Amino acid sequence: MFATKQAVASDFGCASASYEGAARLQRQMGDAMLATIAQPVPQSATVVDLGCGTGLYTRQLAQRFGAYTVGVDLAPGMLAFAKAQSKALSKAPSKALSKALRPETIQWLEADAERLPLADQSVDLIYSNLMIQWCHNPQGVLRECLRVLRPGGQLRVSTLLLGTLQELQQAWTLADPHQKHVNGFISAVDFAATTVEILPAAQWRSQMITLDYPTPMALMNELRQLGAGYKDIQRRKTATAPGRLKQMCQNYPQQPCGGIVASYHAGWLEWRKPLLTPLTCD
Ligand SMILES: C[S@@+](CC[C@H](N)C(=O)[O-])C[C@H]1O[C@@H](n2cnc3c(N)ncnc32)[C@H](O)[C@@H]1O
Repeated sequence: MFATKQAVASDFGCASASYEGAARLQRQMGDAMLATIAQPVPQSATVVDLGCGTGLYTRQLAQRFGAYTVGVDLAPGMLAFAKAQSKALSKAPSKALSKALRPETIQWLEADAERLPLADQSVDLIYSNLMIQWCHNPQGVLRECLRVLRPGGQLRVSTLLLGTLQELQQAWTLADPHQKHVNGFISAVDFAATTVEILPAAQWRSQMITLDYPTPMALMNELRQLGAGYKDIQRRKTATAPGRLKQMCQNYPQQPCGGIVASYHAGWLEWRKPLLTPLTCD
């Protein structure tokens, strides 16, 4: 996929208000990743939610660990929503939540994950749910994580891989063969190879997840509400003709009992930065 950063920031920013209501897959993958952080994170730690979006997991990380937590995102619209949401929730009756959302605990930073304005070895935990697949240079993101993590620091990254939205891709290919309509995804083999090159001994797992929808249009609407529609630089500037859209819907494979499914090839990466080995004197 080649989407400009401007298109990524603008599409996600415009979707900030509808995002959390549509984020079924994002919650499923984010919750699974959160559950892998078994090691206690000390309260003196710094936690980064990379590609935080509306702050769905930034708030959870702050509440769970009580550590200084920074939500980083490229999209100013997402960050404005996250800040407003945090402010509103900080007045909630739950003491733990309102403490976690105080500005001393939670901060928001507009930045590109490929060039983080964070000091070397300054972060104890980086959590990044479904952000890296939007980056031109995933290797650059992993290198930045390697740079800013302290020795012993933990990294959790989730992504989507080749095979994601394959039914939609096939239905569009039949309906509109000369135009791409679905974002491209890196293969599991390529992502795993990139990862181990930069982060030796990283652990990696993947799984096919399917979600049900009543119709292909419901899937298209969900992608729009998430801000996750097709963003390639070659996307049509004008709306797709209704006839093509109708043809895509007719080509989409139906389930025997009605409705459709969409496949998502989910990948999760876990890594811990090695502790520095003490120098020995002979
Ligand atoms: C699918 S949303 C996930 C949001 C959040 N992590 C969650 O689980 O709800 C992807 C987010 O990544 C952000 N993003 C995409 N590319 C980015 C980049 N290069 N640097 C920082 N954020 C980026 C988008 O603006 C968007 O808010």
